[in-house]
Amino acid sequence: MNIIIFGPPGAGKGTQSSCLVEKKKMYQLSTGDLLRVELKSDSNLSKKLKEIMDSGKLVSDDIINNLIEKKISEPSIKNNIIFDGFPRNIDQAKSLDTMLKKYGQIISLVINLKVDNSILVKRISGRVSCSFCKKPFNEFFDPPRDPSECSNKECINRDLIKRSDDNENTVSNRLKIYEDSTLPLLNFYESKGVVKNVDAMKSINEVTKQINCIIDDL
Ligand code: AP5
Repeated sequence: MNIIIFGPPGAGKGTQSSCLVEKKKMYQLSTGDLLRVELKSDSNLSKKLKEIMDSGKLVSDDIINNLIEKKISEPSIKNNIIFDGFPRNIDQAKSLDTMLKKYGQIISLVINLKVDNSILVKRISGRVSCSFCKKPFNEFFDPPRDPSECSNKECINRDLIKRSDDNENTVSNRLKIYEDSTLPLLNFYESKGVVKNVDAMKSINEVTKQINCIIDDL
């Protein structure tokens, strides 16, 4: 089964995708994470990407669709993908349909994480993540636990990383772009009958429970 985790910046898409990876052994395909790997190289592309991402704008569809097709074509993750942060506009959604068809796959479920904007700003400004396992924490809502509690032993030497686009100016741009370009996608998927809404204002564990119930009921 392929799933899209849908929602505004800070809704918990990455957090809930990590839970699905752990509990359901699915593959998390996060376009944000793929782009941040690209940022670490010293190429002209990475400088351009940094500028776009730090401003909160969307990276071009061509770059994103290329990254996505490379992954969708991998037989080892066929029909077991969580799309986190993709698609972000109607053209990306149509390209995704075309790519999935080419590789004999479909989207079975779109999980729509619903959170008020006032909470999103705090979730984003408080976010830090482990430099090794990438697990996100939050200085306000989910403080980083002792690294010795992590199942990954390397995390004992972790740094806590803050993203350069997690500041108030960029956040308001990201929210505006979400409302203008990404939110209209819900109609696209509602017409296919695959959207399930989740109250993502609740605690991380409660949100995970709602998602697990939806998946188990399918
Ligand atoms: P991306 O990395 O995808 O960022 P985003 O969509 O803005 O989403 P976030 O990662 O900020 O939030 P999230 O929903 O994953 O929340 P998280 O689980 O971390 O994209 C970054 C940039 O890359 C974009 O701006 C764009 O430039 C580019 N890009 C990416 N994809 C693209 C695409 N397809 N097309 C074009 N450009 C693209 O949680 C946030 C915080 O809240 C954490 O601290 C967490 O611990 C906490 N938290 C989570 N859930 C809860 C809860 N239930 N209660 C309390 N705290 C919670």
